[in-house]
Amino acid sequence: MDLPLRFDGRVVVVTGAGGGLGRAYALAFAERGASVVVNDLGGDSKGVGKNSLAADKVVEEIRRKGGKAVANYDSVEAGEKVVKTALDAFGRIDVVVNNAGILRDRSFSRISDEDWDIIHRVHLRGSFQVTRAAWVHMKKQNFGRIIMTSSASGIYGNFGQANYSAAKLGLLGLSKTLAIEGKKNNIHCNTIAPTAGSRMTKTVLPEDILEALKPDYVAPLVLWLCHESCEENGGLFEVGAGWIGKLRWERSLGSIVRQKNQPMTPEAVKANWTKICDFENASKPQSIQESTSSVIEVLSKIDSVGGVSPNHTSHAASPTATTGSGGAIGHKFASFSSAYTELEAIMYALGVGASVKEPKDLKFIYEGNPDFSCLPTFGVIIAQKSIMGGELAEIPGLSINLAKVLHGEQYLELYKPLPRAGKLRCEGVVADVLDKGSGLVILLDVHSYSGEELICYNQFSLFVVGSGGFGGKRTSEKVKESVAIPNRRPDAVLRDTTSLNQAALYRLSGDWNPLHIDPNFASIAGFNKPILHGLCTLGFSARHVLQQFADNDVSRFKAIKVRFAKPVYPGQTLQTEMWKEGNRIHFQTKTQETGDIAISNAYVDLVPISGVLAKTPSEGEKLQSTMVFEEIGCRLKDVGHKVVKRVNAIFEWHITKGGNIAAKWTIDLKNGTGEVYQGPAKGPADVTITISDEDFIDVVLGKLDPQKAFFSGRLKARGNIMLSQKLQMVFRDYAKL
Ligand code: NAI
Repeated sequence: MDLPLRFDGRVVVVTGAGGGLGRAYALAFAERGASVVVNDLGGDSKGVGKNSLAADKVVEEIRRKGGKAVANYDSVEAGEKVVKTALDAFGRIDVVVNNAGILRDRSFSRISDEDWDIIHRVHLRGSFQVTRAAWVHMKKQNFGRIIMTSSASGIYGNFGQANYSAAKLGLLGLSKTLAIEGKKNNIHCNTIAPTAGSRMTKTVLPEDILEALKPDYVAPLVLWLCHESCEENGGLFEVGAGWIGKLRWERSLGSIVRQKNQPMTPEAVKANWTKICDFENASKPQSIQESTSSVIEVLSKIDSVGGVSPNHTSHAASPTATTGSGGAIGHKFASFSSAYTELEAIMYALGVGASVKEPKDLKFIYEGNPDFSCLPTFGVIIAQKSIMGGELAEIPGLSINLAKVLHGEQYLELYKPLPRAGKLRCEGVVADVLDKGSGLVILLDVHSYSGEELICYNQFSLFVVGSGGFGGKRTSEKVKESVAIPNRRPDAVLRDTTSLNQAALYRLSGDWNPLHIDPNFASIAGFNKPILHGLCTLGFSARHVLQQFADNDVSRFKAIKVRFAKPVYPGQTLQTEMWKEGNRIHFQTKTQETGDIAISNAYVDLVPISGVLAKTPSEGEKLQSTMVFEEIGCRLKDVGHKVVKRVNAIFEWHITKGGNIAAKWTIDLKNGTGEVYQGPAKGPADVTITISDEDFIDVVLGKLDPQKAFFSGRLKARGNIMLSQKLQMVFRDYAKL
């Protein structure tokens, strides 16, 4: 069972707590350990007069039950004084329940200025004054819970309560904004619209119902919303008689009634009225950003469609309404090339969490490591330029607002390990366009080639929010489907905590979207702060799978498929849950802090071990360097002992072909009469040299100066580099071809 919700050490101000709902809140908070300020002016229900009795009685009642409470008799209009009572008596302020209220009911034509003003002063201004006085303390202590008391009159309107309903809905606006401003300081603000029997309602509700609608049936909601463990913020709740419901805004899909370069007319509005008011498929905007972004989308739709007849709907920019999806499907992007060096491969590896903390990661982040490899998922970076530029907006037959594009899913398949550096040509094509109702999906296939050889294939699934419903097909045989995870506990779970700079680091690999670094941009997009790239989470997860099931051997990676389900914030911990089913490793990735699934229904396909062995060329096969090593070995046979004396070092060679290590050779000029053999050094090598087969030959032929090769990065040496000087002698004297 859950532990009881306690408020020990918390200081709570309840305004208007001398009776009705406020009294019930004050008693309930005190009973659960809070120190309570019982504020009440003590006037009548119309706001006339004052009296300390009301507050005193409640304070006495709390103390009698062993609770802590003090009284305050100020009007909420003097908010500073109310809060000062809390600070003087208890030294802090944690919770404010704005509850005080009066009525001045009159039909609209009879409302006097005074009736209007006093209602606004007590309800709206009073809540503002008390909350503002508490706000600064809440910010400092990084904690606060605030309740605003609205009313069904404000939400729905009520005869005779124009002044009251206006003020009450004003409180909702105030609360919504405080929820946004307070969030970063853990200050949450929620609004309730209660129904309860009290002196305020006794004139409007029959007596037996009044009796049944106890304030005690509202207090538990207020307590929960004010508890430190409650994450609710900016909510609006109707509550009464033991029932609680949450309210939200709903907005019809609406209709665009304006044509490009045409005046907008009332007749067009009239013609579209049914559609404007039709709530079928309505949306539920939750923020001003969501609200305004759709207005901005309208501008782009009108501009790009080049004229929308008044009878067209907001789907006017969808494929069928323009040139037909046929124009889009098969559309080829201009081919582009993606060049990278070890620097980019390392930057990517760091961006997806490879770290010196994990010795086995060194091969991904240190170019001098004998097994240096490019992480397989770098293959996505090679192809991603296709979605980074404006190309999406230029797909014929589609008119896409880039602000509405979400990266939904990703598939990557490698046909051979990525070279450690290289230049690949990428060809992008729109494989299909799907209609998902709430949006359309573009399947973008990108093939990447080295010369004529296909190295990798990516499928980007891009979801364009709000552009669906054009009557297109829902699925396609071109889709690389995601696959549900097995229904059992995971076989393995790996975790990595991302750093606060994770997105800042990852974006250097080429995804410059400000959503991942700029707080203002993130807030316009509806996020509290910049979010991690979904593809960064993909990189973390794939690393986990490789580490767990393939011993970090990149040649075992075949393919990955993921669905991006929820955003991750830099600093959160990624938890990859994995299931092994043959050579397919199913996985999902959760944010450990929230338990939210960030990547769902995902898998990595591994090359079976037998496949890897079969694919790896036997060492030295087809390499020109093989001949040279064999020749050196032969020539050293007779004079080895002399050379060993002069050189006294073991050299290990890593010969690369197409970016990957294709052979290892050792020239041992330290032991006995010297030896040249294929494979890594039997003992510790003094120097390890990595060079491509071609460059090796050029060095031997004297076409490439080894020092220049070293400084330009074509030759890499690790260990006692100075010993490499002696190698020149070996080459000069024993490797002449
Ligand atoms: P109530 O009249 O029993 O309690 C309101 C309390 O506020 C009174 O004790 C009064 O002395 C105090 N008060 C009034 N003006 C004040 C001021 N300027 N400074 C300090 N205290 C002041 O009424 P009830 O029903 O408990 O209402 C509490 C809140 O709930 C009010 O804001 C009311 O508008 C709201 N509400 C109540 C509903 C109900 O069904 N009872 C329905 C919708 C809203």
